[in-house]
Amino acid sequence: MPGDPAGRQMAGFKPFYQFLAPTRVIAGRELIGAVGFEFAKEGAKRVLVVTDEVIRGTGLVDRALDGLADGGLELAGVFDAVPQDSDSDVVGRVAEMAREQGADSILAVGGGSVMDTAKLANVVFVHGGSPRDWEGYFGLPRADDGEGRAIDLAPLACIPTTAGTGSEASFVAVVKDREEHVKYQIADLPMYPRLAILDPESTRTLPPLLAAATGMDAMTHAIEGYVSSEWSPHTDAYAMAALRLLRENLQRAVEHPEDDDARGNMLIAANLAIIPTSSIACGIAHSMAHACGAHFDVPHGVANAITLPWSISYNAAGGEDIAARYRDISEIFGVETGGPGEAIGEALAEHVRGLVHTLGLPTRLSQVGVTEAGIPDLVEGAMGDGCTVVNPREPSGEDFAELYRRAL
Ligand SMILES: [Fe+2]
Repeated sequence: MPGDPAGRQMAGFKPFYQFLAPTRVIAGRELIGAVGFEFAKEGAKRVLVVTDEVIRGTGLVDRALDGLADGGLELAGVFDAVPQDSDSDVVGRVAEMAREQGADSILAVGGGSVMDTAKLANVVFVHGGSPRDWEGYFGLPRADDGEGRAIDLAPLACIPTTAGTGSEASFVAVVKDREEHVKYQIADLPMYPRLAILDPESTRTLPPLLAAATGMDAMTHAIEGYVSSEWSPHTDAYAMAALRLLRENLQRAVEHPEDDDARGNMLIAANLAIIPTSSIACGIAHSMAHACGAHFDVPHGVANAITLPWSISYNAAGGEDIAARYRDISEIFGVETGGPGEAIGEALAEHVRGLVHTLGLPTRLSQVGVTEAGIPDLVEGAMGDGCTVVNPREPSGEDFAELYRRAL
């Protein structure tokens, strides 16, 4: 990746950064019925729809199918068997269905698991092989034109049904390898979805606890993106806009699921919050959460909600430049900060922990099945996680062990 993470420059003029936000986003009301009209603009003709049984049961998929037909698109088929925590096997089956049914494009209607499945299935559909063959960053085949140009995948459109993951506007897919107990990442430029449709109708039936957990994932993207060593003035703008929307809408959307405006704003917040991650800006809340998901099946948003406050107090104690970034975030939330970085971190961490509790989510890893005996495995996972490299402070294995013990 560009930049030198070892430098971890947290202020001033950066010697290098890049900014990416290539996904076309349409946001507003009554957009599900327009999916065919909009997706046709991306070259879609014969669409494979990828979703899960729960979403299909809500009737949302049927409305999307009507929308595809209204736009003159053909349906190649509907794959509705994506599990909550998708894996290589499911990805392979989706790719096979796309091939067998002669699809030329994919529409994902669902949360992070559905969208990530569709993204990686698209890779396998176009380039063959098995899903794990494509693990890693920027490893997709390039055209043989001497310029390293990436080869296009099939057009992919996403209708997110949770407001959190932001996968509809990112170039990363995270999928589980069930045998090895790891979640692996695949990321490359062609994996950016062409189109993201943000319509509050698509989160109408989202259960409050799921809204809370996925909302905290978005919060973690925004906060970690802002304090990551890969920060930039461009991504700061996205992270800050996301945090303001989260401040106004997260609790409202969880406590009043009928509030269309709050749900719509949460979709936009999640979409904004993912943009800093295009420069691989995350951090150790995510590293720790990924390991909890891999070893103890803790849902991603729940794990982040628990680890985020601990990462804040740890990082803010790592230097004044880092603490200054947390002070910006504290100001948005109206959290009084004074004194050294440690005090800023503690105040903000306490605020976030209070919010997590108010949202009805657990605040301890022991509440979600994580055990002390599992800590060595979790530490190993977190140390090897890509998000650790761009954390503003460089943690040792002992630091991670201590963070896990505190979070237990
Ligand atoms: Fe996340």
